[in-house]
Amino acid sequence: MEGPRPPAEAEWPQLLEFLNKNLRSGKSWSINSEYPTALTLQNLHNIRIFKNNDNVISHAVVKPLVVKSPHVIFKVAAIGSVVTDEAHRDQGLSRQIITECVQLAEQQNCDVAILWTNLFDFYRKMNFELAGSELSFIIDKPVGEAQPGVRFSTDAKIAPEAVLRLYSQHSVASARTLEETRKFLSIPETKVFTAWDANNQLVAYAIEGKGADLSGYIHEWGGSVTHLLSLLSYIYKTTQQTKTLIVPRHSSNLIQKLQAQKLVMNDGFLGMIRILQFDQLSAKIKRAFRSEACPDVVLEKRNGVYWFGAGSEIVTVSAEADMTRLIFGPVDYKALDMFSPATLAKLEKVLPLPLWIWGWDSV
Ligand SMILES: CC(C)(COP(=O)(O)OP(=O)(O)OC[C@H]1O[C@@H](n2cnc3c(N)ncnc32)[C@H](O)[C@@H]1OP(=O)(O)O)[C@@H](O)C(=O)NCCC(=O)NCCS
Repeated sequence: MEGPRPPAEAEWPQLLEFLNKNLRSGKSWSINSEYPTALTLQNLHNIRIFKNNDNVISHAVVKPLVVKSPHVIFKVAAIGSVVTDEAHRDQGLSRQIITECVQLAEQQNCDVAILWTNLFDFYRKMNFELAGSELSFIIDKPVGEAQPGVRFSTDAKIAPEAVLRLYSQHSVASARTLEETRKFLSIPETKVFTAWDANNQLVAYAIEGKGADLSGYIHEWGGSVTHLLSLLSYIYKTTQQTKTLIVPRHSSNLIQKLQAQKLVMNDGFLGMIRILQFDQLSAKIKRAFRSEACPDVVLEKRNGVYWFGAGSEIVTVSAEADMTRLIFGPVDYKALDMFSPATLAKLEKVLPLPLWIWGWDSV
């Protein structure tokens, strides 16, 4: 048995064969076409494997992302494609690989690691906690009016420049290149819906599906709320199918419009998050508070205990999972009954942090 270690370039075909057999059996495409920025030779140094008798038996990948938000620029390590060959499970292989992945992320100065899973207890043992917010709306009726001069399209062959232009207007989003956007647009099982104005400018886009995942889910979208709503109506009318729209909590204008239409809304978590560099993250948060003229906010870790509050109102928090939710939500500070209204108003200027990962970045 050898590992965890990064695969050599020559082992790439064998690794893909292992992942396709274990995670994409029966699919006509290879898993790397779903994760073109994570499962790629350029990211080999962020992949860890175990081998036994020259066979790959366990794997995970880290994709570091730089996510800008109004107050903070995060470095986030997305971890994915965690899998161990059936015959070698329950021997601690995944635990060792994830521990290595977390170290890799720490070495690259990532503030947090995030992953998407339904194995909550498995990852809780490794200090990941469900945190961050993700809302989803069931679009089961038209939600917006057609706009004059705007036409719609389902043609997936669109210029990545147009998508990137609207994407870069998001207040919280990862840094992406044109080439990455081009690759994301060609992920198998991706449906591309777009709205164009009379000057042939893209005014809204919505992306449904991503390889084996997210069928029926619109996980990437962009454009003004008005154009997006009319595009969603077009999607509903042309497909005659109910779709689920995934929305960050900070998209308050869109959320308000969707709630006014009494759509079913689910309140969920962004993912399982583990804070990696608490001091670095708290320095970023305190800088954000200083820029909001709140220099007396306290967020510190001393002897394994977190100190949190402002001025003379400081509470101690001992569980790391609780601190993760206080920083990334979901949290209702008022309901916690820990701070006075004045301190609450101060804390809520920056917290919970609006961390968000769009669908194409999840691994
Ligand atoms: C989940 C999976 C990756 C675990 O791999 P593994 O190498 O057997 O995991 P480990 O042996 O390192 O297990 C680590 C710990 O998690 C526990 N664990 C393992 N599988 C678990 C599960 N499905 N649910 C909850 N806990 C689990 C183990 O008992 C062990 O706990 P311990 O250290 O306290 O004894 C493996 O079962 C797998 O490949 N499943 C199919 C693919 C999959 O679901 N991947 C996860 C995608 S997010």
